Amino acid sequence: MIAKPTGLQKLPSDLDENRLPQQIAVIMDGNGRWAQQRGFPRVMGHRKGVDTLKELLRCCRDWGIPGLTAYAFSTENWGRPSEEVDFLLTLFERVLRQQLSEMMAEEVRIRFVGNLEALPESLQAEIASAMEQTANNQGIEFTVASNYGGRQEIIAACRAIAQQVQEGRLSPDQVDEALFKQHLYTAHLPDPDLLIRTSGEMRISNFLLWQLAYAEIYVTDTLWPDFDRHAFHQALLAFQQRDRRFGKIRK
Ligand code: FPP
Repeated sequence: MIAKPTGLQKLPSDLDENRLPQQIAVIMDGNGRWAQQRGFPRVMGHRKGVDTLKELLRCCRDWGIPGLTAYAFSTENWGRPSEEVDFLLTLFERVLRQQLSEMMAEEVRIRFVGNLEALPESLQAEIASAMEQTANNQGIEFTVASNYGGRQEIIAACRAIAQQVQEGRLSPDQVDEALFKQHLYTAHLPDPDLLIRTSGEMRISNFLLWQLAYAEIYVTDTLWPDFDRHAFHQALLAFQQRDRRFGKIRK
């Protein structure tokens, strides 16, 4: 897909380049509704959602935002009709295969987080290959949460730490926030400064429960397939108007 010029290729002048979020998390909600509103099958919304995600990645790179994490498939999404689950898993595989050359050209480093071992083996192989081939790209860090659940991630971290304590390699008083973070899927990433959720729902839905502790939350009624550069610009304007105190008071 070639992006249409929108007049927003450069950072808009009403945004402060020194106060941009360094890590953005996004819950891409509303694909099904977008398709149904047009009389299409729900899966058409997911297909259109991929174009939106690509354009958002490009926009982050153009505007100097170094990291984006997208919630592509939650541990709860297995409960959807099997045709939709199959479509999504096949879509991920196809997108990874078809977009690899563009990711290389655009310097995207892609990483997947979540319980990846439970994904189909052919998808796991495509994920491993894309992660390996893009590992030295420096343009933007793109993280895809797939078969991801925040509670499950926290429990996995607790188990790993408990195991080390049981084996006498760690004492309980060494367990602090920094150590805990090392056991999360996102150990290598800064916590998100901004969470964007499309299509109006005011929920976190088991996404990055630990990491979002101090994120600013921005919810828009726009459905994910319609979330374009203009909508992203509005989200960043709202973010820059927030007074981030991290639990402290203003001096
Ligand atoms: C939520 O909309 C969206 C999803 C569960 C899937 C999102 C996945 C993509 C856009 C593909 C990303 C691909 C890669 C390779 C990263 P919904 O179906 O819950 O919408 P609804 O609330 O209107 O039903």
